[in-house]
Amino acid sequence: MTEHQKVKRVAKRYFDIWAQSYDESILQHLIFRSSHHMLFKEITGSGRSSKFRVLDAGCGTGELSFKLSNYLGRAEVHGVDLSRTMIEKAKDKLDGHNIKFKVGDVEHLPYKDNAFDVITCSHSFHHYPNKEKAISEMYRVLRPDGRLMIIDGCRDVFLGKIIFEIVERIERHVYHLFGHEFRELFKRSGFKNVVQKKFNFVPLLLTIGTAIK
Ligand SMILES: C[S@@+](CC[C@H](N)C(=O)[O-])C[C@H]1O[C@@H](n2cnc3c(N)ncnc32)[C@H](O)[C@@H]1O
Repeated sequence: MTEHQKVKRVAKRYFDIWAQSYDESILQHLIFRSSHHMLFKEITGSGRSSKFRVLDAGCGTGELSFKLSNYLGRAEVHGVDLSRTMIEKAKDKLDGHNIKFKVGDVEHLPYKDNAFDVITCSHSFHHYPNKEKAISEMYRVLRPDGRLMIIDGCRDVFLGKIIFEIVERIERHVYHLFGHEFRELFKRSGFKNVVQKKFNFVPLLLTIGTAIK
């Protein structure tokens, strides 16, 4: 087993356990919901036709997918996550929603080329051991001019630098990119019009790019 496979196995076990209480977690209230709200605000400008297709990568229990599905109506919403238990929890909440949840690894996305208009990724990217591969997979499954929106902890501000260094010492094998590292990664992977938004109250960084093909 390679080092990267070991890292993913540890992440999978960790999230399989956390999935049981994930929706009640304090982080859901303090951080994740703010991030979902920011992504939601970006997407609501992107259209809501029945042909609109959005993928939430590393979707966890699907909180953002449900928020998007409620707004987008007949559009297709998909969620993919490494943790089977996270996906089971998401499916338990489906209750008639047209969302397709799948177990899968972002570094090997189980979708065809050019399948999505938008991909969101909320607080999951710092877990990927091969970030180049993950973003190249996101590029592959986005349609030409499709948009990638990644939100994660921001270490460019003083509070974030302290918080995420502590998180990385505790969790090990996770890494929160600096803003300039995100911008370079997006550009190297074929994304243009890269814009970033920082939120300082909770240190969050949203990076958005367009897949030019
Ligand atoms: C902190 S949770 C965030 C979940 C959700 N996006 C949210 O905002 O609430 C991180 C998620 O990323 C998932 N994850 C980690 N590595 C992954 C990978 N390689 N492929 C897919 N999902 C992954 C975990 O299983 C977990 O559900």
